[in-house]
Amino acid sequence: MRIDIITLFPGMFTGFLDGSLLGAARTAGLVDIRLTDIRDFAEGPHRQVDDRPFGGGPGMLLMPGPVVSCIEHVQGLSQHAGHVVLLTPGGRRLDQSLVEELATRERIVLVCGRYEGFDARVAAAVGAEEVSIGDYVLSGGEVAAMVVVDAVARLIPGVLGDEASALQDSFSGPDRLVEGPQYTRPREFRGLHVPEVLLSGDHRRIEAWRHEQAVAATRRRATIS
Ligand code: ADE
Repeated sequence: MRIDIITLFPGMFTGFLDGSLLGAARTAGLVDIRLTDIRDFAEGPHRQVDDRPFGGGPGMLLMPGPVVSCIEHVQGLSQHAGHVVLLTPGGRRLDQSLVEELATRERIVLVCGRYEGFDARVAAAVGAEEVSIGDYVLSGGEVAAMVVVDAVARLIPGVLGDEASALQDSFSGPDRLVEGPQYTRPREFRGLHVPEVLLSGDHRRIEAWRHEQAVAATRRRATIS
């Protein structure tokens, strides 16, 4: 899979892209991640990328010209045009089903907003999908793009060491249940004991218990979110 990231701050991604899981996936050639700087597509002596909103209001908007030129340039770098995603708080909220959808694509192009966001014509001009990682406002789309890359990359076959583990994750599988509690050694920690069933070696009972716990955890969560 190829992922292009379009940003005014490519430096924010170093470290993240070299981190353990993603770094190994890139080295193994399972995912090809490229960064492109919007500023390289700005014109004029000041390389301006932002301007005041028509109609007034606070802050600055990303101008459509440099962003669209940058996206079109990036699209031309590979035979397959990518699915363009604009990271913006007003977009479709990211959840595991959207992550799964994105992971089926051969190529995605993530575009990070800054300032007060994108000129509305950007999405229309390039046929982009707008995605939000949650109902809060970040200072830019970069952290949101990292969230998308992280969640998508771990679904690419071969990226996780243990292929079974992605299927067992919270929000995966047909019921979209969150995982129930899990335990490792020691059997007793500060007077708290590992549930007896997990030590029983009876895999049918363990599976049944885990399912019960997942249903209960999913219900509990519904009451707090
Ligand atoms: N940019 C600023 N806030 C954001 C959010 N919540 N999701 C995606 N992109 C953003």
